[in-house]
Amino acid sequence: MTTIENSTFIDNMNWRYATKKFNAEKKLSEAELEILTEAIRLSPSSYGLQPYKVFVITDPELRAELQKASFMQPQITDASQLIVFANQLNFGSEEIQSYIENIADTRKMDIKNLDGFSQMMNNQVNSLPEDVKNNWTAKQAYIALGNLLAAAANLHIDACPMEGFDAAKYNEILNLKSENLNACLVAAIGYRDADDETQHYTKVRKSKQELFINL
Ligand SMILES: Cc1cc2nc3c(=O)[nH]c(=O)nc-3n(C[C@H](O)[C@H](O)[C@H](O)COP(=O)(O)O)c2cc1C
Repeated sequence: MTTIENSTFIDNMNWRYATKKFNAEKKLSEAELEILTEAIRLSPSSYGLQPYKVFVITDPELRAELQKASFMQPQITDASQLIVFANQLNFGSEEIQSYIENIADTRKMDIKNLDGFSQMMNNQVNSLPEDVKNNWTAKQAYIALGNLLAAAANLHIDACPMEGFDAAKYNEILNLKSENLNACLVAAIGYRDADDETQHYTKVRKSKQELFINL
């Protein structure tokens, strides 16, 4: 029986930490990167719409540029890859239609049978004020980040989730505005440096009593 004492998942969640110093020499293999990107791709999202794009950045020059827009955090350049999540702005009917076509195609369905679902999503999404809608698409990206972090921990790959960057500058550097995208979240992935002191810090979390309310 799996218990908290013998759960590999819990062991891996305890093993992971927000890596401050990566080993710049140690890179992920293609196969490892593929598993992590697949974990992002398989992430659930509201209605299944996945209203974001994900940039997988290896290019050192581009990362040096982005580092200047990230308070010079060393993870940006030292990690094996930098993942930038960009939520879609002004998400609407066009994107919903493309999702509907994907469902019909994937499940070999008559698209007409999806009219009700399409209308329901359109009514819901189009009724939101623009700022609320943009916030909603960003929230979906956070779910993908959570999955990425768990998948990385499962493979003993290190990661650092990051909000410490200037989104406007990222949007400029990556030319996101013209694509109706906004950089909302970053994750550095790779392998920890043996000298990263923070790997030895004891985890600080709320107690069960403080966090959970059992009704
Ligand atoms: C959304 C988000 C943004 C974060 N931004 C940064 C960041 O910009 N730089 C950084 O070094 N750590 C960042 N962190 C890491 C957190 O500080 C860290 O996850 C938290 O202190 C818990 O520690 P642990 O992940 O090592 O267990 C971020 C974490 C999350 C989830």
